[in-house]
Formats: sequence, structure tokens, C-alpha cells
Amino acid sequence: MPAITASACGKLILFGEHAVVYGSPAIAIPLTGLEVRTTIEPAIGQPQGKIHITAASLGINKDLDELEKDHFLAYILNLLFSFLGLRQLPTCRVIITCDLPIAAGLGSSAAIAVSLLRAMSAFLGHPLNPQELNTLAFQSEHAVHGRPSGIDNTVITYEKPIYYQRGEVIEFIQPISVFTFVLADSGVRKSTRLSTSQLAQDLEADPAAIQPHLDAIAEIVRRSKRSCQIADIEALGKAMNANQDHLSALRLSCPKLDVLILAARQAGALGAKLTGGGMGGHMVAIVRPETEAAVTQALISAGSPNVFSTRLHPTD
Ligand code: MEV
Repeated sequence: MPAITASACGKLILFGEHAVVYGSPAIAIPLTGLEVRTTIEPAIGQPQGKIHITAASLGINKDLDELEKDHFLAYILNLLFSFLGLRQLPTCRVIITCDLPIAAGLGSSAAIAVSLLRAMSAFLGHPLNPQELNTLAFQSEHAVHGRPSGIDNTVITYEKPIYYQRGEVIEFIQPISVFTFVLADSGVRKSTRLSTSQLAQDLEADPAAIQPHLDAIAEIVRRSKRSCQIADIEALGKAMNANQDHLSALRLSCPKLDVLILAARQAGALGAKLTGGGMGGHMVAIVRPETEAAVTQALISAGSPNVFSTRLHPTD
């Protein structure tokens, strides 16, 4: 068997994170430029069925059978082996390299799952089709954060902008012109499991206070679909700010994110909000190309350890 390498991009949720877990729509785009790569090499001379895994960003350098059974890498591989009805495990080395920061809102867990599933299924001679890949990546997201909506694995599998609602046909969005986004890391790491379970508890404890925010977010997402299609960046900026107000009211922001979001708006961004699980991780601002440099500088001055831009092109 020859060595195989497969990659997966990150993701950027523009609207609707968290509310999407409760059945509302959300909009997400692929984050290209930062990716996860998985290489699988045959391990000649090793005992049959020995799989060694190296994933430096996860602090893993051990054999599959040394990982805890519920570790998500073990979970993903066992899921694939049972899906393929494999009787004998391959003898190989798995090397996972991740450019995406972990627990930072950019889809690292789904990207690891998609790249690992792509690489291992191809190595075994049974490459998964996108639907199979998406289904298995969704199941692996369950192991990571308990109650996934499926948006992360879907946008990462298809690598296209999507309007996503659980249980509905995936709608691909085709914007008519380029969008420019500036992203900044708050430097705070929080797992999605933590933020989704806090919201679930808050919703259960006080639905009258929480549900109106989820409903308002759903309405913002519905309106923003058309703004994305016609590239109305002013409307998108306003909608991002309104979405952030609701996420903040739901206790999903954090002081570092708030500072960055304010800095981006004051430097001329049309709108800014947290993206992904929140309580830390990254914020995203939508900007006109002529304010990109000023917004970037403002975010660096406001203390972000990592600021970068990404563009969404009509053909993406
Ligand atoms: C995480 O990237 C997005 C959340 O909405 C969770 C999910 O949709 O599974 C917070």
C-alpha cells in the first residue's frame, strides 16, 4: 500500500452558532489556508495491526491500542473500521499535522476527523464519498462535544459556503462578489462542549430568558442568507453586530473577545462577532478591502496574539 495524504480545511461560522444546535439555521464558510493534513504510511516490519499515531498538536505519540477507548482519534478510527467491516487492522503510521488552533472556534475537531477519515479510507482502498464522510465525521463530533448540530463537519466536508439547518437539505450559498474577513484570536481556549453545555443548562433553567435570543438569532440568519447571496456587506455587518449582542446576552462572549470586537468596529469594520463555540477562541470582522489594514492593526494593538484575513470568492 502506498502512503496517502489527505487534508481538510477549517470553518468560519458567520451567523447562527449555538442556535443551530436547537434546530435554527446557520451560515458557515470554509476557512482555507489553515488545514489539517493526515498522512498514513505502511509500517513495514511492525507487528500486524499495529497503528502508531503522531499528532503533535494534540500531544499524541502512541499506538492506537494505548489510547483510551473514548479518545476521539480512537473513536474515529474504530468507527471507520466498523463501517468498512474490516476484519484485520492495517499496520501503519498515522501522522496528523494541524495548522488550526485547537478549541478556538475554527473547526479543528471536525477537520481532524475529516482528514483522518479521508486518508485512512483511501489507504484501505475504500475512499469514502462525501455523504459517507460527512455522516462519519458527524458521529465523531458526538464523541467530542456531545451535542453537535452537524454544521462544522458539513462545511468542512463540502468546502463550500452553506446555509445549514439540521435535518434539512444542505443549501450551498453562491455569493456574487468577494468578501473580506479579518479574524483575531482572543488567546483564550474553551471547548465547545463547555459552551454548549452552559447554554443547555441556562435554557433549561430559564427558557423565558434564553429562547427569545435563540429566536432572534434564527431571524438574523434567515435575513442574512440573501445579504450573502447579493453581497450586501453593510447589511451583513449590521447583522453580525446584532448576532453578537444576542451571543453576549447568552454569556457566550468573554472580556477579551469584547475588547477585540470593539477595536475592530472602531477601526472601521462593518460588523464583528465571535465565531464558533465562543467564551474565547476567535472573533471575525467583515471589512471593506480599504479598511482591512487598519482593522488588522487595531486588533494587533488590542492584544490579539494572531490576526489574519480570509476572503470568500464567488467561485468558492
Ligand atoms: C461550534 O463550531 C458551533 C456550535 O454551534 C456547536 C454546533 O453547532 O455543533 C457552537
